[in-house]
Amino acid sequence: MLEVSGVRTGYEGVEVVHGINLSVNEGETVCVLGANGAGKSTMLRAIMRQLPLWSGNVQFLGQSLSAAKAFMPAHCGMGYVPEGRGMLASLTVRENLEMGAYPSRAQASFSGNLERVLTLFPALVPRLAHAAGDLSGGQAQMLAIGRALMGAPRLLLLDEPSLGLAPQIVSQVYAVLGRLKAAGQAILLVEQAVGKALALSDRAYVLDRGRVVLSGDCEEVRNDKLLRDAYLGL
Ligand SMILES: Nc1ncnc2c1ncn2[C@@H]1O[C@H](COP(=O)(O)OP(=O)(O)OP(=O)(O)O)[C@@H](O)[C@H]1O
Ligand SMILES: [Mg+2]
Repeated sequence: MLEVSGVRTGYEGVEVVHGINLSVNEGETVCVLGANGAGKSTMLRAIMRQLPLWSGNVQFLGQSLSAAKAFMPAHCGMGYVPEGRGMLASLTVRENLEMGAYPSRAQASFSGNLERVLTLFPALVPRLAHAAGDLSGGQAQMLAIGRALMGAPRLLLLDEPSLGLAPQIVSQVYAVLGRLKAAGQAILLVEQAVGKALALSDRAYVLDRGRVVLSGDCEEVRNDKLLRDAYLGL
């Protein structure tokens, strides 16, 4: 469903992603691993059309997004959970969820989507009228995922959902991702929490300094000696 080919991008003339190829099939969970500064977030921003493509192409559901405006990926069915969650702290939890429903494809199913999100994240229910800025880190991550799900995404893209969370909370977040996967949700996950990401995913890519240095089934990637030593700290 997602086909990224030869994508190059960067910041202010300095290229940091040097021609990445990556794909996600229907119903698949794919993770992208790599150390600090490997270019994981930059690659996701390029896919979400928040950064210009210097070359290459992004295709989603057979449609080229290369020339698309930044709002197009959400309208086409990509739900993005950015690094650091991107909540609007002064808005309430409910208002943040409502914002996630802006793609026209999600508006008709608003109440069903809201019910589904609150069933997945019951801790948000008593906090719907609270400011998002008052949530704990774990609750804020759940809200960020819930907001993306309010857009009824065909593909859910997450940038380090475990960042800054206690291990027990990370396990809760991954349990929810496991339920979404079991229900057929396609997922593209960027992580430094290598063990959790490999356990959840079907396939993995490893980025190093803006290039894919290894890819394959999670089992193969987990057992790759070079990778264990050099990148994953396993
Ligand atoms: N807004 C920016 N302006 C200039 N350079 C940036 C910007 N954001 C990231 N970079 C640089 O691009 C490179 C890749 O960064 P990126 O944030 O994509 O890495 P990452 O793999 O997501 O790392 P992390 O695991 O720490 O989130 C780094 O060298 C970083 O310094
Ligand atoms: Mg990042």
